[in-house]
Amino acid sequence: MDSSLLIRACAARAEIVAGALRGAALVELLHAIPVRDRDAWVDAALGIEEPPADEPELPRGAVPYLPCGVEEILAMVLEVPLGVDDELVDLGAGLGRVAILAHLLSGACARGVEIQGSLVRRARALCTNLGLADVTMAQADAAETALDGTVFFLYAPFNGPMLIRVLERIEEVARRRAIVVCAVGLELREVPWLVPRATSSVSLMLYDSCVPGEDAGTHHG
Ligand SMILES: C[S@@+](CC[C@H](N)C(=O)[O-])C[C@H]1O[C@@H](n2cnc3c(N)ncnc32)[C@H](O)[C@@H]1O
Repeated sequence: MDSSLLIRACAARAEIVAGALRGAALVELLHAIPVRDRDAWVDAALGIEEPPADEPELPRGAVPYLPCGVEEILAMVLEVPLGVDDELVDLGAGLGRVAILAHLLSGACARGVEIQGSLVRRARALCTNLGLADVTMAQADAAETALDGTVFFLYAPFNGPMLIRVLERIEEVARRRAIVVCAVGLELREVPWLVPRATSSVSLMLYDSCVPGEDAGTHHG
């Protein structure tokens, strides 16, 4: 990234901390950053640095940390669409790129669930430094914790029995309310209670819940 982009990232960071850069203005700014620089630019603006090494003993089925691309996060926010009344849950939240950026773009409350304590501590520090009270990070195994929210995001965080268990927990939420499940790098077409929606991104899939007993209606962003 060249120095002019870095200067713009520093200026954007100051505006984010001041609460002045949010929503449509941030979408417009992101679109003005060259695609090849966008991920690094966002990390510079949010203060996301190199991650610590993954913990050596991740449980079976847990995928190590890799941040989701800004393109997919933008597409998710715009196409769900995520709104101020939503509660976004990023399952396997890493350093919080999804939760923090989605909150800034939409105003939705965002919660990350992350199994690695070193990542959770760093993500919490980022939120504190940015002054974001509506972004929270829980250290937990997503397969073993009660979930709630209106929009669930999964960037290929787990597989095998762990993924099946997490989907059961999300389905419990869908029995109470209409939800949207967003998946990157993860195929959920075989899940009977999820109805796929096409998106503008080749790697992002959106699914609306359709569970017998679910409250009538659909998700409203
Ligand atoms: C591919 S990364 C995605 C990170 C984040 N969603 C992002 O896009 O920036 C997967 C993350 O899921 C976490 N993870 C794996 N299994 C988990 C589990 N059972 N519960 C919570 N987090 C888990 C990993 O530690 C890792 O940080």
